[in-house]
Amino acid sequence: MKMDQPSPPNAIDENRHGHIGAPMDRVDGLLKVTGAAAYGYELHMEGVAYGWIVEAAVAKGRIAGLDTAAAGSAPGVLLVMTHRDAPPQSGFLKEIDQRFERPRPYLLDDGIARYGEPIALVVAETLEQARDAASLVRVQYETQAGEFDMREHFHSAEKPGDSQGPPDTDEGEFEPAFAEAPVKLDVEYTTPTHIHAQIEPHASVAWWEGERVHIHCSTQMVEHAQQRVAHTLQLPPGQVHIMSPFIGGGFGGKLPVFADVILSALASKRLGRPVKLALTRQQMFHVSTHRAETLQRIRLGAAQDGRLAAISHEVWSQCARHDDFYEPAANQTKSLYAAADRMTRHRLIRLDLPDADSCRAPGEAVGMLALECAMDELAHQLKIDPVELRLRNEPAQDPQKHVPYSTRQLVQCLHEGAKRFGWQARNPEPGQVREGRWRIGMGMAAITRSNHLMKAKCKVSLDEEGDVTVRTAMTDIGTGTYTILKQIAAEVLGLPGEKVHVLLGDSDWPHSAGSGGSFGASSSGSATYLACEALKQKMALSAGIDMEQARFEGGKVEGSGKSVHYAALGRGEGLEAEGAIEPGQMEKQFSQQSYGAEFAEVAVDSESGEVRVRRMLGVFAAGRILNAKTARSQAIGGMIWGIGSALHEEAVLDKRFGFFANHDLAEYHVPVHADVPAIEAIFLPEIDDKANPLKIKGLGELGISGAGAAVANAIFNATGVRIRDYPLRLDRILQLA
Ligand code: MOS
Repeated sequence: MKMDQPSPPNAIDENRHGHIGAPMDRVDGLLKVTGAAAYGYELHMEGVAYGWIVEAAVAKGRIAGLDTAAAGSAPGVLLVMTHRDAPPQSGFLKEIDQRFERPRPYLLDDGIARYGEPIALVVAETLEQARDAASLVRVQYETQAGEFDMREHFHSAEKPGDSQGPPDTDEGEFEPAFAEAPVKLDVEYTTPTHIHAQIEPHASVAWWEGERVHIHCSTQMVEHAQQRVAHTLQLPPGQVHIMSPFIGGGFGGKLPVFADVILSALASKRLGRPVKLALTRQQMFHVSTHRAETLQRIRLGAAQDGRLAAISHEVWSQCARHDDFYEPAANQTKSLYAAADRMTRHRLIRLDLPDADSCRAPGEAVGMLALECAMDELAHQLKIDPVELRLRNEPAQDPQKHVPYSTRQLVQCLHEGAKRFGWQARNPEPGQVREGRWRIGMGMAAITRSNHLMKAKCKVSLDEEGDVTVRTAMTDIGTGTYTILKQIAAEVLGLPGEKVHVLLGDSDWPHSAGSGGSFGASSSGSATYLACEALKQKMALSAGIDMEQARFEGGKVEGSGKSVHYAALGRGEGLEAEGAIEPGQMEKQFSQQSYGAEFAEVAVDSESGEVRVRRMLGVFAAGRILNAKTARSQAIGGMIWGIGSALHEEAVLDKRFGFFANHDLAEYHVPVHADVPAIEAIFLPEIDDKANPLKIKGLGELGISGAGAAVANAIFNATGVRIRDYPLRLDRILQLA
């Protein structure tokens, strides 16, 4: 099915069995908490050998000398692989459109392009032996001066290509409109490098059967992984089998696969044994990707009543030498607020650093940290309530695409949020509310995240137990995919949850969009819905019941005076059906986003600058909600990350040597329980029939998109201190307080 028309009423709307929207517990929950879910590294195989990566200790140059003798003769060592003897692999191929499918060779030659690049792989009988032998590899480097500091190299900023959509947009004429605006705001915000900090590292077990390689790993995108391995190892895709049934967090860092996948496959082929390989926590900072640091300039031109006439958002972000990824931080500024004259710009600065790439809500997560604080600044300047300022700038249609919104309930979210949070109690004058040494403040931000539908396929089968099995090369990165696909199939087929089995994460199954960009549920869920509808047709036909009359309930098809058990229809060969969805005209004819409003209350210690977030509320509208519990978990998870991006998270670059100095979770700070207050997340009723047959919209990345700005704005309200460089560390607050 191609999404060319609004979706008509269907079984999901009817929800006769009540599965849709129910707060069903995660079906993988018990497996995970009891250790029964096998993550990437946790496949136990006979004869497995263990790998350890030796990383480059310089950021740019070449390997001038390499002595592996001691490592090679260390106890238990089976293999020391370097560029001298690594099997042939394909080099980078930029012409492959899909960036995550481009080859990713390792140990290709003696060149070093970034700190931490793998330069040797040691494989041994045990992990400890591999690690010990890796420490014996001796390397001499010929070091070249690298360029690491974005600010020092602004002159080299380039306009990126169109691979992520146009980097520049213009409507009307921004500059003259801004020059004439009676009220102006012109501010620069910076956000630091963020890492994904998944609990599960990148990890693989690889083995070969003849010419086919099996790789059990941790990836958000099974199909991309299969293609990347095939391209790198120069194999037909059918000779690469990827399995990724359980994933301990992805957040964009596992959209592509990295050295653990490629090197375990190469080593396993060489040794004729399964090889396990994981990145260490420290290695993940340099061998995988990060969210680039950004500098963002926002200009708002408004009338005295707060109505925006001109709006611009310019973004500079770091990118690896060979790459063209830019952090699309101005994306939401294209359509969030009305203004006749507007522009967005994205520029990238290529440096000798590891790859910058997607991280949870690429664009909005850091773009809203700037835009939503700039709106707060404008509100303060005009003495207009920040909620009211947003209400006054509500567009009638998408101001850049000039098409209607599919659904947009930002106004409703703002009203409902303000009411529930007790916003009217906020003192608009900053720095006025004190409780002893604590300064108290409230802040808010509008929330938005783009909605997408991707190509996805699914197969469902009915067996002689009357059970239904759903198979798709989709993944569950901790978001709840197993659970929502079960709910969808159970609802459409009229079965209890325990009669539906969902199998994910295997490249042998029909290809799906994978988990990313908040499109996982809509894409794989729609394919599952369509497959179940197709199965019903086959069941009716097989039962000899007119489809128009057929009712599917309680494990029986009934109609035309007959009643046939599902189990009878599943006998022998069983029945099987496929469903496929792809995007169509609806995404061109309508502007599709999810929306929300978030509110935060903070206390700032007037002596130490310490910030405690006291409470947070998010009110969201993201289409139909498939599962009240998993949706809420995604929302509050995003809000917690918002606290982190406002207050804690920052990968600190050593500008002399081009590496991230705080490369572990002791020094790269993410919020812990003590940082996280009572958080409430509410979804408003919404049905979006332009989005997909389920009428849902993306929500995984919605919670983070603006959350940090609500915290930052609360700090301003508490203290009168406006910090435009994230994170808002206590030393920065104290300096200005
Ligand atoms: Mo998301 S950053 O597209 O996994």
